[in-house]
Amino acid sequence: MGYKSLITLMLCMLNFHMIIHATSDEISLETYIIHVDHEAKPEDLDNLYKSLLSTTDDHRRRLAYSYRNVFRGFAARLSPEEVKAMETKPGFVSARLQRKISLHTTHSPNFLGLNRITGFWQSSGYGRGIIIGVLDSGILPEHPSFNDEGMPPPPAKWKGGCEFNHTSCNNKIIGARVFTSTSGDTPLDEDGHGTHTASAAAGRFVGGANVFGNANGTAVGIAPMAHLAIYKVCGEFCFESDVLAAMDAAVDDGVDILSLSLGSLSFSLHDDPISLGAYSATEKGILVSCSAGNSGPSNFSLSNEAPWILTVGASTIDRKIRATVALGNNATFDGESAFQPADFLPTQLPLVYAVALNATDSRIRFCGEASLNKTDIRGKVVVCEVGGSITRINKGIAVKNGGGAAMILINTASYGNLTLADAHVLPAAHVSYADGLRIKTYINATAAPTATVAFGGTVIGDSRAPVVAAFSSRGPNFASRGILKPDILGPGVNILAAWITPSMPFNMISGTSMSCPHLSGVAALLRSTHPDWSPAAVKSAIMTTADVVNLAKNPIEDERFLPASVFATGSGHVNPSRAADPGLIYDIQPEDYIPYLCGLNYTNRQVGVILQRKVNCSVEGSIREGDLNYPSFAVSFSSLASEAASQTYTRTVTNVGEASSSYAVKIVAPAGIQVLVEPTKLDFSEVNQKLQYNVTFSRLNTTPFGYYVQGYLKWDSSKHSVRSPIAGILR
Ligand SMILES: *[C@@H]1O[C@H](CO)[C@@H](O)[C@H](O)[C@H]1NC(C)=O
Ligand SMILES: *[C@@H]1O[C@H](CO)[C@@H](O)[C@H](O)[C@H]1NC(C)=O
Ligand SMILES: *[C@@H]1O[C@H](CO)[C@@H](O)[C@H](O)[C@H]1NC(C)=O
Ligand SMILES: *[C@@H]1O[C@H](CO)[C@@H](O)[C@H](O)[C@H]1NC(C)=O
Ligand SMILES: *[C@@H]1O[C@H](CO)[C@@H](O)[C@H](O)[C@H]1NC(C)=O
Ligand SMILES: *[C@@H]1O[C@H](CO)[C@@H](O)[C@H](O)[C@H]1NC(C)=O
Ligand SMILES: *[C@@H]1O[C@H](CO)[C@@H](O)[C@H](O)[C@H]1NC(C)=O
Ligand SMILES: *[C@@H]1O[C@H](CO)[C@@H](O)[C@H](O)[C@H]1NC(C)=O
Ligand SMILES: *[C@@H]1O[C@H](CO)[C@@H](O)[C@H](O)[C@H]1NC(C)=O
Ligand SMILES: *[C@@H]1O[C@H](CO)[C@@H](O)[C@H](O)[C@H]1NC(C)=O
Ligand SMILES: *[C@@H]1O[C@H](CO)[C@@H](O)[C@H](O)[C@H]1NC(C)=O
Repeated sequence: MGYKSLITLMLCMLNFHMIIHATSDEISLETYIIHVDHEAKPEDLDNLYKSLLSTTDDHRRRLAYSYRNVFRGFAARLSPEEVKAMETKPGFVSARLQRKISLHTTHSPNFLGLNRITGFWQSSGYGRGIIIGVLDSGILPEHPSFNDEGMPPPPAKWKGGCEFNHTSCNNKIIGARVFTSTSGDTPLDEDGHGTHTASAAAGRFVGGANVFGNANGTAVGIAPMAHLAIYKVCGEFCFESDVLAAMDAAVDDGVDILSLSLGSLSFSLHDDPISLGAYSATEKGILVSCSAGNSGPSNFSLSNEAPWILTVGASTIDRKIRATVALGNNATFDGESAFQPADFLPTQLPLVYAVALNATDSRIRFCGEASLNKTDIRGKVVVCEVGGSITRINKGIAVKNGGGAAMILINTASYGNLTLADAHVLPAAHVSYADGLRIKTYINATAAPTATVAFGGTVIGDSRAPVVAAFSSRGPNFASRGILKPDILGPGVNILAAWITPSMPFNMISGTSMSCPHLSGVAALLRSTHPDWSPAAVKSAIMTTADVVNLAKNPIEDERFLPASVFATGSGHVNPSRAADPGLIYDIQPEDYIPYLCGLNYTNRQVGVILQRKVNCSVEGSIREGDLNYPSFAVSFSSLASEAASQTYTRTVTNVGEASSSYAVKIVAPAGIQVLVEPTKLDFSEVNQKLQYNVTFSRLNTTPFGYYVQGYLKWDSSKHSVRSPIAGILR
């Protein structure tokens, strides 16, 4: 069983406090996820669980959760012997140890083209009537971002609870529940992450929001009139059984959208808790929006790959919080920091590269507290490298504790040109890899190197934006190569949103954790505008209307400032106003996933675990992944016989634009792949009319294997452009 290591490159600041919640005799027990026969009747489940747990001392205390929606089964604290004893009993299907899951403004609505006074934001009612369920580290309900002035009461269907012990919910936060298995825990956020993500999705307008005076302006989430339902699933860690229980409850409570800024690395779709929970939610019409992960820029680094999930990568916005390094030779390098103390005078100070500080510790370049030679940094500017599992803020704390005057954070090669404006504790500047090399060269070549940092404040208008963030996880899709992931990019770098510290009510943090709630907010606006659209229709609208160029009208770039791969961008960068009026949609009904899952060659039992009912794939039939009516394409060619040199897929598009409209296809084929579409014109005469087209991908014999290639096809009418990216994997 593949327990994969936690995502270590979490870019969000996570300061969890250790909470031990097991008595000493239970220390050897661990939480297992147990699947039972999905044909068991709901009324028999209690007895079934009791019988499966009958060899334990106190089955009531051992049972952590019994699940109703995500799958048929339960979570319980057990010893390996007890699990073994269970395996032979009737009704038992499988058991495995639960996994840990990692947690993966405001100017961003503006950057997304949302205008407070006019246009789609206003006509969407800012998400009125929609309930966004946020699974995270809880929430600080007193924060002004969650005041409920002028908010309507929750919709009648709402059935959720409120478990604060110091306050009640309101018309903004309509529910708040705890699933952390920590006794006495409340939904109060002790970390900050959950407060930040909830406010990015649906925070109210709050004037004068800033971080240390920077990025000053009105903070607001994407859907400020939407309701929030909070599910606290993370304490010090996030555990699988808790996440499953929260998704299970959210389905019953009546949320419209689920926002999960967390995930593990890739598992098979039947073995991934978020995939299972999301399928059940999707079946009930709930759209599930998840972070793509912070494990980029490596290939195959995605979380949350299921086709029923909206998988969100992260990119920059056009705002920088400038901190400029000036060297003794007058060279300057623009970097970023959110902490810009007015009393720091930009005078030249001795400059030292951390590598020179401790000959016995090669990890010294990451500026860990333990290995810094403190006698050597007093009054100096210290150069530290990002990474090494030490957060950027903690590097600064180490330098400050040693008496250092300032810090220059330099990137590793893979992080390229990504700079982050963190809330540092000392004067600092985060600069690119290339600039870091220049600074190191200067230090090498200079007898007494000096440097300083000068603060430039908030600068808006970076025409390169959006740039894909280095950390944003990349495809190809590991669990289902024939489905292109991530689906979409949203703002996830230097995002200002609500925070839990009284002295710092807003914070600026980065991660796909931040881009996911932006898309959850956009989905709320679309749901509120088009209540009849399915989750797949909302996804399709978001994907086919995405921007593929930056503000300067060049192709969206990655952290190297090179045109980004479709495995980094997916369909592109979200454009909410265009998504509201996509022209055509690629719809998918929940039952369409059955032949798709059979086609992944899962066993009947594995497909049954996802669907929660008995499935016989020989009866249901199988389709290829590419046959799913997905709004993007990922085609593989290899010398394997199973991947034919020519593959034809059928797509069905539904007209949601004007009744009478005519579309013509435009194709830009990936290098080495021929793309033919039949027919090349689609003439609609009615709203909601469906038409089909066939697309044939053929590998040209001249193309070598071992490459990724990309192109697109789009359907253009006089009013709409419906674009689907094509990723080609020549294996
Ligand atoms: C609420 O619960 C927390 C955690 O158990 C506890 O520390 C706190 O005292 C409780 N507050 C009230 C008002 O009961
Ligand atoms: C932020 O902007 C508001 C409104 O323009 C202004 O009143 C306030 O002084 C500003 N705060 C800071 C810290 O710049
Ligand atoms: C991802 O794979 C492509 C194609 O094999 C390769 O060109 C690229 O360098 C890889 N990217 C990384 C970050 O490894
Ligand atoms: C840096 O600029 C200052 C002021 O313009 C000048 O006096 C000094 O000579 C320059 N130093 C170098 C190394 O170019
Ligand atoms: C150098 O690093 C080692 C290992 O981290 C540490 O034990 C030692 O104290 C450091 N030396 C100084 C002078 O700080
Ligand atoms: C620590 O720095 C001081 C001052 O430069 C130096 O004398 C000492 O040798 C350094 N110690 C180590 C272990 O590098
Ligand atoms: C600086 O000098 C060190 C030691 O000679 C060398 O290893 C390193 O590559 C140099 N770095 C740069 C950027 O020139
Ligand atoms: C960063 O962007 C510059 C262009 O401004 C480019 O020359 C450089 O190579 C990039 N750095 C990295 C590490 O890719
Ligand atoms: C499933 O098995 C069939 C038959 O062996 C094969 O052609 C197909 O490529 C497999 N599908 C996947 C997704 O591995
Ligand atoms: C599945 O259906 C096929 C064809 O109807 C049948 O032969 C087979 O026995 C069924 N398998 C199961 C497990 O029911
Ligand atoms: C697509 O191809 C299939 C199989 O060749 C054919 O039956 C169908 O008519 C085609 N559909 C369209 C719209 O061309």
